[in-house]
Amino acid sequence: MKMTDKVVVITGGTHGLGKTLAELCLEHGARVIVCARDDENEGFAELEKRGIMAIKADVTKEGELRGLADMVVDRYGRIDIWINNAGIWLPHEPVEGVDWARAHDLMEVNLFGTVYGSKSALMRMREQGMGMIVNILSVSALEGRATSSAYCASKYAANGFTLSLRKEVEGTALRVLAVYPGGIKTELYDEKRPENYGEYMEPSFVAGKIVENLEKDVPEEDLIMRSNYK
Ligand SMILES: NC(=O)c1ccc[n+]([C@@H]2O[C@H](COP(=O)([O-])OP(=O)(O)OC[C@H]3O[C@@H](n4cnc5c(N)ncnc54)[C@H](OP(=O)(O)O)[C@@H]3O)[C@@H](O)[C@H]2O)c1
Repeated sequence: MKMTDKVVVITGGTHGLGKTLAELCLEHGARVIVCARDDENEGFAELEKRGIMAIKADVTKEGELRGLADMVVDRYGRIDIWINNAGIWLPHEPVEGVDWARAHDLMEVNLFGTVYGSKSALMRMREQGMGMIVNILSVSALEGRATSSAYCASKYAANGFTLSLRKEVEGTALRVLAVYPGGIKTELYDEKRPENYGEYMEPSFVAGKIVENLEKDVPEEDLIMRSNYK
């Protein structure tokens, strides 16, 4: 589907991959709405200046995402593409060293944020009879990794949800896509950069591949991009 005039919602769109995706979708002619938790951050003002609507909504609060979906439909009449991108990470640690209390937050954002976003979009897309839900997962949803147990677990859970939802919309005009990127150079690692950060992909490269896929007549359902993906 060509992006021109499409209504695209991106969760977690003030930094990193989400922000780059928002800017690229806008360049391709889409009407773009992003959300993030903190409307005080510079990202909000910067995006608004460029013509991207930025709304305060926390993906761990289902009501806030339902409100976002309703607002978008009231204003633009529909949602063509909803991208569940918001995510957090924990620094690499072996299992005994993981802060498992913080891992609950990881599940709240990476799993339940994806669930609430998908459900909010789904309800409006079922009424419309069309629409595409895109879940940004990770290669950590496909294979276990030493020192990344909590993050992998959150992404595996979100993947299980995504693949199940895909089966639930079979036979309709709704589509559920999954994106599995390897390392990307973003603010996700502000607390502590992984050792091989220098080998990670640029957000513009990953966003470009995602938009290219979305614009295909039949997008790939599973887009896997390892760090050495060319
Ligand atoms: N970077 C990588 O190497 C990599 C690799 C594979 C997959 N991914 C996935 O790609 C997605 C984007 O990550 P990124 O690297 O671009 O991270 P990032 O630079 O840290 O950006 C994350 C975005 O999500 C927002 N966010 C975080 N928690 C939120 C919440 N509860 N509600 C609403 N928004 C929230 C952040 O804004 P606020 O904090 O202001 O809310 C920010 O805009 C994530 O799902 C991540 O797991 C990243």
